Amino acid sequence: MTTVLVLNGPNLSRLGSREPDVYGSQDLEALRAVLTSDAGDEATIELRQTDDEGEMIGWMHEAVDSRTPVILNPAAFTHYSYGLRDAAALVTKAGVPLVEVHISNPHARETFRHTSVISGIATGVIAGFGFDSYRLALRAIIGLN
Ligand code: DQA
Repeated sequence: MTTVLVLNGPNLSRLGSREPDVYGSQDLEALRAVLTSDAGDEATIELRQTDDEGEMIGWMHEAVDSRTPVILNPAAFTHYSYGLRDAAALVTKAGVPLVEVHISNPHARETFRHTSVISGIATGVIAGFGFDSYRLALRAIIGLN
C-alpha cells in the first residue's frame, strides 16, 4: 500500500485552539482520523508536524529517498523558506508528487501571505477549503499513483 506523508509546519500543532475563526476548531488528531478514513485501503497516512525548518527539510530528503508522495502544509515557512523550497524541489524533480495545501486561503489574507516560495516547485496547490484542502490533495495523489 502507498504511504502518503502529510507534513505540517510551524504552529499547526496548535490547531483547534489557534485562531479558530481562521483554522477551525479541529485539531491535528482529527485531521489524521479523517485522512486515515478517506485513505481506506488505498494508502497509509503518515502525519507529522514540526516547528523546526531543519527537521522539515530532512523529511523532504526522506520523501525523495523512499519515493513517498507528500501533502505539505508549510505554514509560515511557505512565505520565506528558500531552504524548504529547495528541498521540496528535490521531491518533485525526482518525479514524486508534492501537493502544497493551506487550510485558509492565504491570498485573501495579509499581503505577506500572498507569496509562496513553495508553489513554483509543487505538483499542485490547494488552499482555502479547511481540512478538505488535505482531503482533496489526498484524492489527487491517489489518482496520480
Ligand atoms: C497556513 C497559512 C499560512 O499563511 C500560515 O502561516 C499558517 C497556516 C494555512 O494552512 O492556512 O500557519 O499554511
